[in-house]
Amino acid sequence: MKIAVDGPAGAGKSTISKILAKKLGINYLDTGAMYRAATYKTIKESIDPENEEAVVKAVENSDIYFKDNEIYLDGENVKIQIRSPQVNRLVSVISKIDEIRKIMVAKQKKISESSDVIMDGRDIGTVVMPDADYKFYLDASIEIRAKRRFEEMDDKSAMMSFESLKKEIAKRDEEDKNRKTGPLKVAEDAVVIDTSGLEIDQVVELMAKKIKGE
Ligand code: CDP
Ligand code: CDP
Repeated sequence: MKIAVDGPAGAGKSTISKILAKKLGINYLDTGAMYRAATYKTIKESIDPENEEAVVKAVENSDIYFKDNEIYLDGENVKIQIRSPQVNRLVSVISKIDEIRKIMVAKQKKISESSDVIMDGRDIGTVVMPDADYKFYLDASIEIRAKRRFEEMDDKSAMMSFESLKKEIAKRDEEDKNRKTGPLKVAEDAVVIDTSGLEIDQVVELMAKKIKGE
């Protein structure tokens, strides 16, 4: 079974996909973590993000993989590093580079061919698994998505204001929707769920019902 989950930041994709994967006894793959790891690599090596050739070379020469569902870069567990504000700001710039997308999509397609999986991202139903058994597009208002992300922050005063977080998410959405290759969009055959007024369990229930054919 292959399930594709796409949508903008904070729609609930990863939280819900993880629960659903457990429920269905299949693997979960967080494709955003792969683009984040590639971005972290460029930051670590002080590569100019505008220098596409250098970015691609660095990513080609790096080893990005999952072990026990956690993301690794060149042998180092980078699950904390990939969530930094710096990575948040830069990830959509790196992920719009065609060659970077090619590398990631090839890895993701390979994983999808070898096991039953629920994958979340931006181009899963459209590019990575166009033949998925089920496709979902989770959405929510920008206000709600920013609020969810704001509430996740440990030390709110030390990080950023709600307004700047909202702006940053809106900017990333715009970049993801408007890039040439693999933009964020609703796959023709996807079920769209607006999660704005829904609890996590309610979204999981809706998706599980669709999968069971109810
Ligand atoms: O969790 P959040 O929604 O903040 O982001 P993410 O899923 O970790 O994805 C981070 C970024 O990676 C996105 O804003 C996209 O720029 C990029 N991405 C992508 O281009 N294609 C994917 N399949 C997944 C993520
Ligand atoms: O992966 P994506 O960026 O789409 O979102 P997420 O990281 O799964 O969800 C962002 C936050 O919203 C998490 O803290 C979830 O617990 C929360 N959430 C929620 O409160 N209600 C929902 N219906 C979905 C997610």
